[in-house]
Amino acid sequence: MSARPPIPYGRQSLDERDLEAVTKCLQGDWLTQGPTVEAFEKGLCEHTGAKYAVAVSNGTAALHLAYLAMGVTCGDVGVTAAVTFVATANGLRYAGADVGFADIDPRTGLVTGETLQAAIDALGSLGRSPKVLAPVDLTGQPFDRAAVRSVADRAGAMILEDAAHSLGGEYEVDGVRHRVGSCAHAEAAILSFHPVKHITTGEGGAILTNDATLRRRLLELRSHGIHREVSRFSRPESDPWVGPWYYEQTDLGFNYRITDMQCALGLTQLDKLPRFVERRRALAVRYGEALAAAGLLDRLVPLEVAPGIGHAYHLYVVQLRGRPGESLASLAQRRKDLFVALRAEGLYCQVHYVPVPWQPYYREHPPLVGADLPGAAAYYAASISLPMFPDLNDADVDRVVASLGLALGTA
Ligand SMILES: Cc1ncc(COP(=O)(O)O)c(C=O)c1O
Repeated sequence: MSARPPIPYGRQSLDERDLEAVTKCLQGDWLTQGPTVEAFEKGLCEHTGAKYAVAVSNGTAALHLAYLAMGVTCGDVGVTAAVTFVATANGLRYAGADVGFADIDPRTGLVTGETLQAAIDALGSLGRSPKVLAPVDLTGQPFDRAAVRSVADRAGAMILEDAAHSLGGEYEVDGVRHRVGSCAHAEAAILSFHPVKHITTGEGGAILTNDATLRRRLLELRSHGIHREVSRFSRPESDPWVGPWYYEQTDLGFNYRITDMQCALGLTQLDKLPRFVERRRALAVRYGEALAAAGLLDRLVPLEVAPGIGHAYHLYVVQLRGRPGESLASLAQRRKDLFVALRAEGLYCQVHYVPVPWQPYYREHPPLVGADLPGAAAYYAASISLPMFPDLNDADVDRVVASLGLALGTA
């Protein structure tokens, strides 16, 4: 075991301003349902370019509400990536929909127009078609927005972007630069503010959209399906049973609200988002240079990044190169050995993610398509997420790369 302090794969970065903002909120009138929630939502719009943001209790709740607000229900099908956090698929199941999985390109971890089309074609042969596509910006690299939009349009499907990994990222379509979350190519996008993400509120999430109707449904579903709009009441305002206190529940909603304390933290974190993303990008460059300098690039390969992409680097993933003729099981064993060796050095790396269709739940409730996908298996066998967070310093990167060298026998 290493005597040096352990390094996690990700963690929050907080300073005095964050602490002061939360304390001030605690000393004020509103702990929840107050003005700081709206202020945070406005900040999210400013940082992403979306017209509307609805902040909720976590990213999973954001997925659930987004699917519901988009009208996903029993009998519908949603297609998501085979490699993502389980929540992207689970949200579809909460809404009562069936799930189809699309394969990923193992060099990037991302779905492509082709892999989504293949899933849609396979659904078509079952007489089904997707209502929604939920592609994922895995590791912080935006998937190909133009390709996915045209596949969705051909299939008559909506798009919910899972941007839990990519706040602060950018992409280009026809020479025009767009911010992740702008919803320029999707009906909606979701974010997560878990401590390992770009900004944190402890737990927290948000849905972004440019659609006013979707926003209204999201706001109601976030709070029990209740509204207070007089013009929509089922009773006239003159009714003695109706008054200034009156409200109506018109839908089966939830309590997925976020608190004002969390949003106070979210606001001070948002101010630092550009700096956080810049630091993550600098760390990625440093990893690339250090891996090259250590002569490790014939053993390990960082994920490919498409041209024109502004990567948000939630994660920095390297993959063990397969040997000629090597089975995936053998590659997976070598990756496991490397992972265990790093852990013994106090480097708490991670693997993102076990393919979702491999989970016992999805074996028992099989997807309509995409139960076993070769790209997902190849990606999972070879990948390790190295430490990546704004307070990681250059010496930490050098320590990680030196440990990789030792473990791989090249140091
Ligand atoms: C890709 C992706 N989607 C959704 C979520 C769910 O977010 P939360 O943990 O805030 O519920 C996560 C969380 O890790 C995620 O990585």
